[in-house]
Amino acid sequence: MTQSATGRNESRTESKVEALRAVRGMNDIFPDEAEVWLAFEAIVRDWLARYGYRNMRTPLLEHTALFRRSIGEVTDIVEKEMYSFTDALNDEHLSLRPEATASTVRASVEHNFLYGGPQRVWYTGPMFRHEKPQRGRYRQFHQVGAEALGFAGPDVDAELLVMCARLWRELGLQDIRLQINSLGNLAERRAHREALVAFLRAHAADLDADSQRRLETNPLRVLDSKNPAMQSLVEAAPRLLDHLGDDSLRHFEAVRAMITEAGVAYEINPRLVRGLDYYNLTVFEWVTDRLGAQGTVCGGGRYDGLFEHIGGKPTPAAGFAMGVERLIDLMRGAGRLPAVRLPDVYLVHMGERADRFAIRVGETLREARLAVVSHAGGGRFRDQMKKADASGARVAVIVGDDEADAGQVSVKDLRSGEPQAAVPLEAAALLIRTIARVGVPGEQGATD
Ligand code: HAM
Repeated sequence: MTQSATGRNESRTESKVEALRAVRGMNDIFPDEAEVWLAFEAIVRDWLARYGYRNMRTPLLEHTALFRRSIGEVTDIVEKEMYSFTDALNDEHLSLRPEATASTVRASVEHNFLYGGPQRVWYTGPMFRHEKPQRGRYRQFHQVGAEALGFAGPDVDAELLVMCARLWRELGLQDIRLQINSLGNLAERRAHREALVAFLRAHAADLDADSQRRLETNPLRVLDSKNPAMQSLVEAAPRLLDHLGDDSLRHFEAVRAMITEAGVAYEINPRLVRGLDYYNLTVFEWVTDRLGAQGTVCGGGRYDGLFEHIGGKPTPAAGFAMGVERLIDLMRGAGRLPAVRLPDVYLVHMGERADRFAIRVGETLREARLAVVSHAGGGRFRDQMKKADASGARVAVIVGDDEADAGQVSVKDLRSGEPQAAVPLEAAALLIRTIARVGVPGEQGATD
């Protein structure tokens, strides 16, 4: 009988309790996988630091109004994908963040973050979109994003693209293509919009229901239609690129010249409009054919109007975000998963005095910066050695009562087959380092 929270006595055997499951589209990440994520994040952190981007963290929950105003009322994200609810305690309309650019800008405005000048920041973490789950598309997914806040010139657009190209190289990923486009400025988009609406009205009979609706609310998004039946119409529609004025064209050309100089290949995709409304001038997506339908691994662009739009001073900015699940999927497919750290030592111990001594042995080795998994739960020597082999550790450190009495440990190389060597505890770390060729963390070329 167990005591329940309500104070009633309940029998565990009365009824079988239904097992609870995770929310659909939201993944549990177990250690084998999480270690890959950690290794990926370490590469990413190092890469961002080399470009001077600094980490920033914002809340997972924001006022729904933030996303409506920034991402746009007539976008898939705001119309149908947000996890929104009313916090009954204080009647606030809140949403789990579907992306983090809006939050970054909100926080920057709220705390006058750009007071001292432009800032480069990055973030990583979960985002939430109520999309139909499939490979590469989840309801909780993770992004790494970078935002260059307060920079107006094409140099920062180019920097963001050159950065991404470097990351793909450093992750060992090929077959990621860059598509770019320019969305010009507001007046240019208006002129294009008029031409587009006139064109679409003239072909109203050929529009699908979604596009009919978009024609009235957000005609640019008709160009983003995934419906194959709409493609020839989309191809023939007026192009925004043909409506760009001199300044916008100059900006676009400067970005292209700089990334060409850096050896970054690209395609211009005049239909690239992005699924969020805050962009102007440069927009881009990095796409691959190796992930099936969800082939966009990174997207971004310039959003010079967003600060003002959510109540700040006019402030130019640009950024991108990449999908962590998609990148790791790509890395796995390419056989380029980063190496994960295995324990250096598995500590085998048997006997009453040995069990006590093992605590000291483990702590002494960890003090020497070695990663030590200590056997727990007792068991026969042979079984403990099996666990040592399965742990991936290079070395087993073995302690019996005799060793404990002598203040010694036996060190066994689990890969070479060499006989084990008994050494004083104080000498063990050095011997283990020699066998495992583990350096002191922070020293170059320290680990093998
Ligand atoms: P986004 O294109 O909506 O842009 O998302 C960026 C990336 O997140 C996508 O390219 C994709 O790799 C990943 N992603 C999006 N939705 C999902 C999903 N349901 N499941 C798995 N991965 C997904 C933004 O979010 C902008 N905030 C990017 C940006 C930053 N623009 C300027 N600064």
